[in-house]
Amino acid sequence: MSPKFLFEGIVNPQLKKIVPYLPGPMTQDIAAKYEMDPARVIKLSSNENPLGVPPLAKAKIIEMAGEASLYPDAEARELRGALAQYVNMRPENIVVGPGSSSLMMHIIEVFSSPGDEVVFTSPAFGSFYEEITLARGRTPVKVALEENFDLDVKKLKKALTPRSRVVFITRPNNPTSKLVPLKDLREIMEAAAALKAVVVSDEAYVEFADPHTSALEFFYEMGEGINLLVTRTFSKAFGLADVRLGYCVGSAEAISFLTKAKPKWGTGMLAQSAGVAALKDQEHFQRTLEVVRKGREYLQGELGRLGLKMVDAPQGNYVTAKVSGYGYTGETFTEELCRRGGIMIRGDFHPEYVRISIGTMPQNEAVVKTVAEMLKDRKRR
Ligand SMILES: Cc1ncc(COP(=O)(O)O)c(C=O)c1O
Repeated sequence: MSPKFLFEGIVNPQLKKIVPYLPGPMTQDIAAKYEMDPARVIKLSSNENPLGVPPLAKAKIIEMAGEASLYPDAEARELRGALAQYVNMRPENIVVGPGSSSLMMHIIEVFSSPGDEVVFTSPAFGSFYEEITLARGRTPVKVALEENFDLDVKKLKKALTPRSRVVFITRPNNPTSKLVPLKDLREIMEAAAALKAVVVSDEAYVEFADPHTSALEFFYEMGEGINLLVTRTFSKAFGLADVRLGYCVGSAEAISFLTKAKPKWGTGMLAQSAGVAALKDQEHFQRTLEVVRKGREYLQGELGRLGLKMVDAPQGNYVTAKVSGYGYTGETFTEELCRRGGIMIRGDFHPEYVRISIGTMPQNEAVVKTVAEMLKDRKRR
């Protein structure tokens, strides 16, 4: 018999429903499209660190390059030790992986079965949660945020059923930069616990938010036996998006299950050592927070003064603005900002809104200047 074979015949039928997550464009693509020098392009479309790689991490990556032929520590002991100090938990409460997004996949695999429901809000993190849910044969349940992008907790609780196993709450939310308060999260956890579901606080941006807003507060208050997992990343405040490093904090019991499911050598020594060094680089970390907080206040204030309706109380390293009042869609505004100023932002998550990452002050000023020029010619509708 011929070994000729069509994979279509055996593919998980859920996969056919997936609308793939659209990553932001790359600088090179934009430079080529608008025939610009790539050095002139300002990338504010992926919520990256405005100050780049922490110098201590960069030095460590260079130092470790010669060891790349060796297998890494599968248990990431030094990194988990450093993280335990950072989050004020024990190493047993932490598992690391190649980005927090990879750990979210394992959370679904470990704590639900095919046919179970995975609940999340929308808009939140593009189509990512839906994609990883469908790919694992689980059923996605989307809870739409209100018109002002607040989460109606009652509505979310109504969406929970005895099939619900995992609930993702993005705090601060991407793309709206809003933060579901801890009292609401507690209410969601209580409702989920009654149905044997786990709540995941996706805290990729939490370092930029107000102090004491992390769901880790619940571990400090109630100890380990609660239905909570917290995912965090080195891609944002720690400036290591390309290194692919994230972690999940939970009870030792939950973490032991997740550790079984993840790839044994999923994070290399370059990544692990860079993570330890980034945690040590307090100067870079503190400067990042300062630049982001100042830049966020500046962009929120200035874009608002120009007449854009800003989503209030931003807590991430990005602000969100309604542009339809000036006859733009998210996409046409994004296109024009890029054409005029070489500035990349995201406008493909909602027909009326755009998301702008906080850059350095000169980059933020370039945004304000270009938006001012764009709006001058337009009448408010
Ligand atoms: C809300 C949210 N969670 C997680 C991630 C992914 O982070 P990582 O780079 O750790 O996979 C992102 C990336 O942009 C994000 O926006």
